[in-house]
Amino acid sequence: MELITKAPKGTRDIIPGESEKWALVEDVMAGEAELNGFSEIRTPVFEHTELFERSVGDTTDVVEKQMYTFTDKGGRSITLRPEGTAGAVRAMLENGMYNNGFPIKMYYKTSCYRYEKPQAGRMRELHQFGVEMFGAAEPAADAQVILLGKSIFERLGLGDDVQVAINSIGCPTCRAEYHKALKTYFTAHREELCETCNSRLERNPMRILDCKSPVCGEIAKAAPKILDYLCDDCRAHFEKVQSLLTAVGVEFTVDPGIVRGLDYYTRTVFEFISTRFGYALGGGGRYDGLVEEIGGKPTPALGFGLGFDRIMLALEEFGAEFPDDGKCELYIAAMGETAQVKAFQLVNALHRCGVAADCDLCARGLKAQMKYADKIRAPYTIVLGDNELESGRAELKNMKTGEKKKISIGEDFIDAYLAETTAQEDLSF
Ligand code: HAM
Repeated sequence: MELITKAPKGTRDIIPGESEKWALVEDVMAGEAELNGFSEIRTPVFEHTELFERSVGDTTDVVEKQMYTFTDKGGRSITLRPEGTAGAVRAMLENGMYNNGFPIKMYYKTSCYRYEKPQAGRMRELHQFGVEMFGAAEPAADAQVILLGKSIFERLGLGDDVQVAINSIGCPTCRAEYHKALKTYFTAHREELCETCNSRLERNPMRILDCKSPVCGEIAKAAPKILDYLCDDCRAHFEKVQSLLTAVGVEFTVDPGIVRGLDYYTRTVFEFISTRFGYALGGGGRYDGLVEEIGGKPTPALGFGLGFDRIMLALEEFGAEFPDDGKCELYIAAMGETAQVKAFQLVNALHRCGVAADCDLCARGLKAQMKYADKIRAPYTIVLGDNELESGRAELKNMKTGEKKKISIGEDFIDAYLAETTAQEDLSF
């Protein structure tokens, strides 16, 4: 088979069989977020480019190298969202959500787009589950959000694999001193740094800490650490976050190497690292300056994004078991045209009562219809032919036990079917 084209590099289809698993995992995440008072937000897949340039930061890899940006027919610069936070902040402000009091808590399940080199766990169309909280400046909010992420991994059975690593990258006040120290340090290594890092040296030396080049990475190892430059307020905030995490039994490590790849962060940053894969299954932090940057009043905020594609890979790796129930409850096979019409009517009457039922749509013979019923694992079947039509009764077969029971296929069919199948279910308890 030669297709005219395939799915673009770095994208993939989530097909039936897999999509049910994705939906279950999404439900676990959303359920846990809702327990914590978060509600779902849906924002556009594309935004005006400047939203990401201003929030994610124009010296980040995401903005410098990875954005899917194009000019639309109206001449506007548009970008497919590379991440979910900027759009959530814009939407919160544009819809005046702050008028309803703080904290505002929202979650999202979205696809994001980054022009990266695809490999296992790195996609160009990636899927994230994210949460954002606005208006909560207290360290308790940081601990709550980290705990929410950790409990999602526990609910998914990945609790043992996922390590929580945290850091504080301070506020603009302490960061000014830190930038000076970094600049001095990296200037001494200017010759060895890559071209991008040389350009970052003046504008945003902290981004050098995040460079993927092995040479820059090696130099960055001995660079000054932000934790030595925190102001008193940031230090006290970070210590409180740690003591709260300890109080709720969350194990964590403090890793001064975590600086995150996006510019909007302040104070607490964290990552959920998979020990098996060695990469982050999620990450986030506080971004107290972003709401103002986007045009709102100064508002503390924080959140995280979990990498759905990576989490699904991890679940597969750890052999997570997903329920494998068929979707069809009753398959009605039919022989002959009149019986087929009857089957069609009964199936649609069942659908109206919320019963998942199916009948032949492919002009199959009886044997092939029963084979199909078996394939879709229908727990009940009925076969309709001339005899059944004449007598107004047909055999309902329990495919597990082989037990058969004659029921009406007339006006009272639904009642008869429900009475029989509910009774069977009761028996199985
Ligand atoms: P991020 O660290 O860029 O943060 O992405 C969050 C997670 O998405 C990563 O930890 C990773 O699991 C996954 N991810 C990132 N890029 C890819 C990719 N190319 N392929 C597969 N998975 C990927 C953010 O996006 C922030 N908006 C998170 C946040 C929300 N911070 C505060 N609120």
